[in-house]
Amino acid sequence: MSESPQPPPDLRLVSPAGTPCPRVIALANQKGGVGKTTTAINLGTALAAIGERVLILDLDPQGNASTGLGIERRNRRVSTYHVLAGEADLRAAIIETAVPRLHVAPSTLDLLGIELEIAHERNRAHRLLHAIEKLAASSRPEEAYTYILIDCPPSLNLLTINALAAADSVLVPLQCEFFALEGLSQLLKTVEQVRANLNPRLSIHGIVLTMFDPRNNLSGQVVADVRQFMGDKVYETMIPRNVRVSEAPSHGKPVLLYDLKCAGSQAYLRLASEVIQRERALRAASAAA
Ligand SMILES: Nc1ncnc2c1ncn2[C@@H]1O[C@H](COP(=O)(O)OP(=O)(O)OP(=O)(O)O)[C@@H](O)[C@H]1O
Ligand SMILES: [Mg+2]
Repeated sequence: MSESPQPPPDLRLVSPAGTPCPRVIALANQKGGVGKTTTAINLGTALAAIGERVLILDLDPQGNASTGLGIERRNRRVSTYHVLAGEADLRAAIIETAVPRLHVAPSTLDLLGIELEIAHERNRAHRLLHAIEKLAASSRPEEAYTYILIDCPPSLNLLTINALAAADSVLVPLQCEFFALEGLSQLLKTVEQVRANLNPRLSIHGIVLTMFDPRNNLSGQVVADVRQFMGDKVYETMIPRNVRVSEAPSHGKPVLLYDLKCAGSQAYLRLASEVIQRERALRAASAAA
């Protein structure tokens, strides 16, 4: 992997109306339970705490990101299902959270049916992109999101394809376990295919190692393997396995609100600054190009 960041083609920075475009990052890994949702919630919270305006798009029918942000099911009147079905604008689905500057577009189990419902539509892979573009084009500069994080389901289905087609980049949570690398090449291949056929802007933002346990020798070996395989694409920050992180969602809170001082919260704050640093480097490279 090259050391200096190469700007992806057509890096969108400002909309035609002069409003800064949000950076759209898809959190994807077809493996289940690797920390996609936990990272969406807590990276989103950490970015908002640093001053960014963040929207989390829940694209998983399980709705765990919505639940973990304290959005009760009865309050998900308009959801990402309605957005993808073309029945509502993204703006209508957005709900404020307890975290200032952090909003969420929730999901419900209805999303399970969307793939079949839009299977024959010509623009089926670009539904989310169009919804995000419409939101960005109609936002005043002071209310525009600077980051949109998309929480993907554990599958490379049409929902994940919509996320990858709409995203500037992909952030891959990888659990520090024996089979961590298994499945990563399939994901990277899918990213390549989406880049070639649907979205030439798409790049890999980075890989974050999650649930790291320093007392476990295997964890250390997995870290070494992943760093060797993926080089500087792997963030320096690793998210430790931390019981406070796993308790927080049952209280409907990001761990940063539940226990700011715990190791998990501190790691997500470090990850947020790394994400912002990488964004700055990309912008600088794009301005110089
Ligand atoms: N750093 C951590 N320390 C302890 N537990 C964690 C940590 N990160 C995630 N977990 C727990 O691991 C489980 C899986 O995490 P999460 O739901 O974020 O994964 P996911 O990839 O979104 O799963 P799915 O593929 O089902 O959507 C959850 O119970 C979560 O609370
Ligand atoms: Mg999830």
